[in-house]
Amino acid sequence: MDKFRIAVIAGDGIGPEVIEEGKKVLSSIAELDGGFEVEFTDFPWGCEYYLQKGEMMPEDGLDILKDFDAIYLGAVGYPGVPDNVSLGGLLLKIRRGFDEYINLRPVKLLQGAPCPLKDVSCEDIDMIVVRENSEGEYANVGARLYPGTPQEMALQTGVFSRKGCERVIRYAYELAQKEGKTLTSISKGNALGYSMVFWDEIFAEVGKEYPEVRTQKLLVDAASMFFVKDPKRFQVVVTSNLFGDILTDLGAAIAGGMGLAAGANLNPEKKFPSMFEPIHGSAPDIAGKGLANPLASIWSIAQMLDFFGREDWGKRVIEAIETLLVEKKTLTPDLGGTAKTQDIAPAILEILKR
Ligand code: NAD
Ligand code: IPM
Ligand code: MN
Repeated sequence: MDKFRIAVIAGDGIGPEVIEEGKKVLSSIAELDGGFEVEFTDFPWGCEYYLQKGEMMPEDGLDILKDFDAIYLGAVGYPGVPDNVSLGGLLLKIRRGFDEYINLRPVKLLQGAPCPLKDVSCEDIDMIVVRENSEGEYANVGARLYPGTPQEMALQTGVFSRKGCERVIRYAYELAQKEGKTLTSISKGNALGYSMVFWDEIFAEVGKEYPEVRTQKLLVDAASMFFVKDPKRFQVVVTSNLFGDILTDLGAAIAGGMGLAAGANLNPEKKFPSMFEPIHGSAPDIAGKGLANPLASIWSIAQMLDFFGREDWGKRVIEAIETLLVEKKTLTPDLGGTAKTQDIAPAILEILKR
């Protein structure tokens, strides 16, 4: 029998609350299926750990994680620890250290989910954003010079390598080709004359190998406008690390809110474990109150099941989320309901067992 070993980093704020629900869903699915097992190993890493130990995870943290089949992450960051320290020491360290160079973020409006746009139907918002996840604006190369003087300055360099751009762009072309979808590249070559011009060139170059994929190229400012005004023009989207970060919060906003947006950090070669997480943060404003919506973290379980080759269950989880949204009986306050975080997994499981 297949056994999937999953490292769990629930993290900070609402992280532990939403992860608990995802764990309940995955354990019960394994029982219902009977054909595979899951084993969770919890790691207490995060901001509290940092305050005690002076580091977000142990120095050999990546070594500890490297043999797991997947990592399930809640959220990282909390007031009291500078965000660049907490994220740089855990989430971003894992993404980079495990070469999780693809960040797959579905922006899909399910039936029953709230949408702030007028005159759109579910078919109009159904895209998958392929975000570069290992370099670009997030490479964290730079310097602080002349601190404390009037000449003080900060330099932050984007790193766009041929290898890094090519592999994410190729992944997106493959996905678009496989699914018979259009591909949109979002960049900013009119202002960023080195990095984004390079990106655009590589998009055109790789595209020559995929003549059957219909493409569109947009500047990120215009693309943001079209996310709101005409989301149906997007199917598969490929973009840089920072633009992908920003666009997918916007994507979350048009597709049900932060409580419904999931993301998979993939190392497609499976040389290292991939990591699955809701895209939202630790939401200190609602933490510890049972108010957090765990559907994003449950959606990321669906992505994990897809990655394990159990797309049948991945699909059923999304359908169960959709049924929950349509029935409106068990929803958290962000979706207009009165249910608590911990009520959601049982409701999803009840639907899955019908
Ligand atoms: P956030 O995503 O935590 O919250 C933004 C808003 O969305 C808040 O009003 C919050 O209450 C709401 N929200 C988020 N998730 C929700 C959910 N599941 N259910 C209901 N409402 C939800 O973003 P932020 O406030 O900018 O960041 C808070 C902290 O989280 C910071 O330390 C930040 O660096 C960190 N962060 C971490 C991750 C991550 O670990 N992947 C992602 C984003 C932000
Ligand atoms: C996300 C988050 C992270 C990112 C932060 C917390 C570093 O916002 O996963 O979207 O910018 O990638
Ligand atoms: Mn983000």
